[in-house]
Amino acid sequence: MSKEIVVSGIRSTGYLHLGNYFGAIQNYVKMQNEHNCYFFVADYHSLTTHPDPKDLKQNVFRVVAENIASGLDTEKVALYAQSDIPEIPELYLMLNMLAYKGELEKVPTFKDKVRLQPENVNAGLLTYPVLMSADILIHRATKVPVGKDQEQHLEMARNFANRFNKRYNDEFFPEPHVFRFNKEAVRIMSLDGDGKMSKSENVNATIYLSDGDDVIRKKIMKAKTDQGPHEPNSEMPDFIANLFLLLKLTATEDIYNQYLNAYKDCNIRYGDMKKQLAEDMVAFVRPIREKAAELQKDEDAIRKILKEGAEKARPSSIATIEGARKLMGINYY
Ligand code: TRP
Repeated sequence: MSKEIVVSGIRSTGYLHLGNYFGAIQNYVKMQNEHNCYFFVADYHSLTTHPDPKDLKQNVFRVVAENIASGLDTEKVALYAQSDIPEIPELYLMLNMLAYKGELEKVPTFKDKVRLQPENVNAGLLTYPVLMSADILIHRATKVPVGKDQEQHLEMARNFANRFNKRYNDEFFPEPHVFRFNKEAVRIMSLDGDGKMSKSENVNATIYLSDGDDVIRKKIMKAKTDQGPHEPNSEMPDFIANLFLLLKLTATEDIYNQYLNAYKDCNIRYGDMKKQLAEDMVAFVRPIREKAAELQKDEDAIRKILKEGAEKARPSSIATIEGARKLMGINYY
């Protein structure tokens, strides 16, 4: 049986952090063995905010390096830059003819952007979900590992697929669906207890895969705590539960249980727990950071990775575009 096709896009803005690692990258790494995976850096998407041209390459290369350092294996997956696949914008153009202004204006992420950057509401922003649909449908993928915030976009991808099928051929595009290994996505909160870890906000309460040992220690020691529980077996406030989650993800089970029992018995000392967590986190992040830094030094190696990734991603892209053109009547020769 042929493997199921998986697509996911990685934003190229900002530095990767623990939320990305445990929420997304770990899922990719688990999928790479049993699926036919296409992972790409969404550099075209980043153009909606007009990034400085001299930063673009570095951002793309860094994201590639960080994903590989986190365990993505380019022998197993196709890892490429979106802008290296010309069939993606071609499919985007085709799908734009099936996407309606009204439905695009209703998308919550679009409405947020209109509120946050009213001076730059461009057509690329409005049609962001169409480009994302093209990313997915170009490989006729069925599984898309993304977070909750992307579910609406995926629903649109299904709508466009079905619309195309209805108009031109009933079975050309399969429906893509959100995929997660664990039912609940792992959500890492910001260390100040204010929302989730984020690429751009809460810099001091977010742990990045590029943070040095002492930066990590400092951030963890400053994490929000409280007076501790007053009654045995109290429920944890979310910012305390977040520290326990981080401990669980990075420390041994014994250590985790030791602190959990201390919490249950009301004799937890957060200072000790944070020191422990800081050291486990340092040990966890260090090899990823070092590998990513080493990879980034070798630009030729990253270029080679991207080139090979694009070579792996082109055949199915070309097949989809050829099929779509034919179905739409664009076959003159
Ligand atoms: N929109 C996604 C994000 O913000 C990134 C993305 C672009 C993507 N194209 C995609 C994700 C295709 C999955 C599939 O994270």
